[in-house]
Amino acid sequence: MSADIDWDALNTAAIDIMRKAFAPYSRFKVGVAGLMEDGRIVVGCNVENAAYGVGLCAECGMVSSIHATGGGKLAAVSCVDQHAQPLMPCGRCRQLLWENGRPTTLIRTPEGILTLRDILPQAFGPDDLVERAEDRTFQG
Ligand code: THU
Repeated sequence: MSADIDWDALNTAAIDIMRKAFAPYSRFKVGVAGLMEDGRIVVGCNVENAAYGVGLCAECGMVSSIHATGGGKLAAVSCVDQHAQPLMPCGRCRQLLWENGRPTTLIRTPEGILTLRDILPQAFGPDDLVERAEDRTFQG
C-alpha cells in the first residue's frame, strides 16, 4: 500500500543519485530509486557516452544494482528529472521495471502514485515465453 512506503526517503535517494548522473550530451540528468520488498533501497543514474546510442538510462543502473546486491522484487519506484520532479520511465525502462517488479509495484508519476500495470498495460513478460513458445529446445 502506498501509505506504507516512505516516499520522502525514496524521492531523496532518487534526487541524490540524479546529481551523480553523467549526461554531458543531453544535459538531461535522471535519477531513480527503488524500494525492494526486503526493505533495501537501490539507485541508478543515467550514464551517457560519446557514442550516443549506447548511453545507459538511470533504470539500467538501478536494475544492475538490484541483481548485484541480492535480487528480489521492487515494491516502489521514484524516478526524477534534474528539477527533482517525477519523470516517467521511457518505454524500454518500463519493461525493465516490469521484469524486476510486480504488476502491483507502485511508481510515483506526474499523475500521482500508479502501478506498473497502469504504466505498462498488457505487458509482455516471462510468462509469454513459457505459454506461447512452440518449442523451448534450443536448436543452435
Ligand atoms: N533517460 C533515463 O535515464 N531514463 C528514462 O526513463 C528516460 C530517459 C535518460 C537517457 C538520456 O541520458 C537522457 O535521459 C535524455 O534522454
